[in-house]
Amino acid sequence: MKGLLITLEGIDGSGKSTAARHIASRLYDLMPEQRLVFTAEPTNSEAGKILRAQLSQPTEDSKVFSSAMVMEELFLFMADHADHLARLVDPSLKEGAIVISDRYADSTAAYQGVTLRGIVPDPVQWIRSIYSPWNLPPDRTLLFALDPSLALQRLRSRKEQEKFERPGFLREVDSNFQRLARQEPERFVLIDASVDAELAATQALQAILDLISKRC
Ligand code: TYD
Repeated sequence: MKGLLITLEGIDGSGKSTAARHIASRLYDLMPEQRLVFTAEPTNSEAGKILRAQLSQPTEDSKVFSSAMVMEELFLFMADHADHLARLVDPSLKEGAIVISDRYADSTAAYQGVTLRGIVPDPVQWIRSIYSPWNLPPDRTLLFALDPSLALQRLRSRKEQEKFERPGFLREVDSNFQRLARQEPERFVLIDASVDAELAATQALQAILDLISKRC
């Protein structure tokens, strides 16, 4: 049977990584015979390691990035995504696995769609057009929707601040995600992430089980 690719997307602090852990433990119990692959981007590829080191640095709102730095970051995310597809996602889908990825190409469109503003016209569409000839499109994308100010309140309780965790930036990322969801309403499912993590995970699990039942 053909595999299924499900992606989890949302702004920093939307709770999707916590939900991913709940979903994993529930699905392993519910489908012990099914091959399940839980993964995330950025991965631990060479490009992913460079990105993770850079992402752990908080950045002042006032800091201006050069166009070249922003482009370097974009293509590192793309290289990491290509590596992810080649090494794990594509082979797993061919073996009939259900692959669930915490972030995927929509994160690049939404986040780098903000950093590339002023460098290329309509960066979200530009990034999508670079991906479209070779990307493996998800069967479903669960978008963890949460007001960016609530997401930031959640993030403030964590110790380390990451590069993109700034109010203005996250609001723009959020509006890019919403735009992507409006463009492909049949692929995106909105998850209300304002509720506690377990409840959000339950909604997400239901959406995944609905999709699996249609496949059978
Ligand atoms: P991570 O620690 O995985 O954050 P989270 O738990 O919120 O997913 O770091 C990922 C960060 O990288 C996050 O701020 C989103 C950003 N990102 C991009 O900017 N572009 C991308 O293509 C991806 C995959 C992530």
